[in-house]
Amino acid sequence: MRKNIVAGNWKMNTTVPEGVQLAKEVNAAVNAASGLKCDVVLGVPFTHLTAVKQVIDINKVGLAAENCADHSSGAYTGEVSAAMVASTGANYVILGHSERRGYYNETPQILKEKVDLALENGLKIIFCCGESLEERENGSFKAVIEKELRESLFHLTPEQWASITIAYEPIWAIGTGKTATSDQAQEVHAFIRSLVAGQYGDRLADDTTILYGGSCKPANAPELFAKPDIDGGLIGGAALKADSFMGIVTAF
Ligand code: PGA
Repeated sequence: MRKNIVAGNWKMNTTVPEGVQLAKEVNAAVNAASGLKCDVVLGVPFTHLTAVKQVIDINKVGLAAENCADHSSGAYTGEVSAAMVASTGANYVILGHSERRGYYNETPQILKEKVDLALENGLKIIFCCGESLEERENGSFKAVIEKELRESLFHLTPEQWASITIAYEPIWAIGTGKTATSDQAQEVHAFIRSLVAGQYGDRLADDTTILYGGSCKPANAPELFAKPDIDGGLIGGAALKADSFMGIVTAF
């Protein structure tokens, strides 16, 4: 059976002390909650990983970097490798976020390198895909999503696939307050699962966790998470306060 996951993506928000405080609050709330129906992951800036790791129970709250380099080591000033991320005790990395694709020109080929290095270093991956408003409106969104998955992920072996979580994030819904309707999200999630089934078979497709991201909040999470193919969320803005994040974690 696949896992439900609610993952925060803090993006470029919080100083280290602020992030440590937020992580402590989430960790305490997760420990106090009984019968949670999802795994919880915090996606935090590189600078925060080591400090946040010290204040969470890693068996209860996973820790993700928001990116890693497409090279293993060497003369790449300012970059952070997958091995460095893993050495902090983080167990996840978010890859392929539309902000990375859009602002930092991350191509499917670059993302494929990052995926391989993350897996080599034992990190689980939350891999983002999703279409722009134009692609939604001109009807090419399924082709766009398929290409993103095929070109960066579908070279993986079935064993490697077990470390992959997909996050469907329609770009037009990220940070805009405009959520995809639960039916729109479900349609794409089912489509993604069918692609995984085509590549890896029904059993692995059934076991694949597919998250929704884009203006997910405590108010809309229950309806989204009630859909059969929506297994949780990747949460930006609403992950920056422990209360609202926990409101989503408890939405199942
Ligand atoms: P949002 O961001 O929840 O603020 O829309 C989601 C994301 O980009 O992962």
